[in-house]
Amino acid sequence: MFNFEYYTPTKVIFGKKTEERAGELVKSFGGSRVLIHYGGHSAVRSGLIDRVKKSLDEAGIFHVELGGVVPNPHLGKVREGIALAKKNGIDFILAVGGGSVIDSSKAIAYALADPEKDVWELFEHKRKAAGCFPVASVLTIAAAGSEMSNSCVITNEKTGEKRAYDDDIARPKFAIMDPELTETLPDYQTEAGCTDMMMHTMERYFTQGGNMEITDAIAEGLLRTVMKYAQILHKDPGNYEARAEVMWAGSLAHNGLTGCGNDGGDFACHMLEHEMGGMFDVTHGAGLAAIWPSWARYCMDSDLNRFVRYARNVMGVEKKDGMSDRDTALAGIEAMEKFYHSIGMPVNMKELGINPSDEQIEEMAASAVRACGGHKGSAKVLYKDDMIAIYKAARG
Ligand code: NZQ
Ligand code: ZN
Repeated sequence: MFNFEYYTPTKVIFGKKTEERAGELVKSFGGSRVLIHYGGHSAVRSGLIDRVKKSLDEAGIFHVELGGVVPNPHLGKVREGIALAKKNGIDFILAVGGGSVIDSSKAIAYALADPEKDVWELFEHKRKAAGCFPVASVLTIAAAGSEMSNSCVITNEKTGEKRAYDDDIARPKFAIMDPELTETLPDYQTEAGCTDMMMHTMERYFTQGGNMEITDAIAEGLLRTVMKYAQILHKDPGNYEARAEVMWAGSLAHNGLTGCGNDGGDFACHMLEHEMGGMFDVTHGAGLAAIWPSWARYCMDSDLNRFVRYARNVMGVEKKDGMSDRDTALAGIEAMEKFYHSIGMPVNMKELGINPSDEQIEEMAASAVRACGGHKGSAKVLYKDDMIAIYKAARG
């Protein structure tokens, strides 16, 4: 195993009606002037924003609000939030929404702590953040894990670049998780969310050594649990227990727990998908489902033991006479594709609804190489030509 650091300072408040405690919690973390940040319509339509405002009012906390964050959140909205927060002397940002809203909030929070600098420089990796204002969330979708993660992903809508910046100082102060809030999600978003949390675990699972048995056991248990409840939710979206299972899994999948002792993870699928998000604005989890099978077939020979273990322990592929390790690994990948189809997820770009040309694939690979500094991956280290080959195979 490798040495590791595990830092998860986010206080979790989990269960029904916990959003009513938003005001009290902001106060306990020292917030007095709050920017409530949210997305398109869902949190307004459900009355959640009003309930959060009431809770802040009851705690005597000043607040202003800014909605309109889109999935694959835009830098332009971040800049709008920075201006509004400065004008109102904001000292705390409360995200009410999913990964996109939380990430937009984190980006605003970075900028407020270093107001003279352009926040996009962080995403270009030109400098490290000098600080970060406090951020917390009322989570409305189980997916990205941003409610506990150190990551922030923003799209520069002018250049089409979708870029991540990771820093522990942005880990949220608290996360309010009421599984009931996720019951209004369209099925596609629920299942894309389940796919994303599985991928956060798998990115840390398919590595070259260093894996601890305890970490693998947690990861495999998490994956089996999410698969079970993703299928239940596909048929029974109002199932509270299933909502709760995947909501907690989403946080555990990306707060670092499933990576302890490994080499830092692979994350090539995320990098490849971020380019698809930047160019085609696809739903993140669905984009991951569309790229993973092609990535897996391309990389499996370089990390065969892990693929065999995955096939057996996660996908339930049985040992049969005459079946080679390669056959087992392939059976695991095929079983995964079957699972994706069972929850309405795509297994290639055609099913995702995009059809990038050779030139666009070249552009995405070039951009990915710029973003990662030349190469990416652990199961297999990918260079530009590898990325192009995977994108082409994923066209379907
Ligand atoms: O805008 P509204 O109307 O709220 O609609 C949203 C949005 O259309 C809808 N939604 C959310 N909660 C709802 C709801 N609709 C009905 N009822 C509810 N309760 O769902 C749609 C997707 O929301 P979004 O916030 O985009 O989802 P998600 O949590 O999947 O976040 C995706 C973003 O997070 C990034 C992704 O790249 C993408 O930009 N990621 C962030 C990570 C991080 N910071 O740690 C890690 C991830 O790997 C990921 O890259
Ligand atoms: Zn993700």
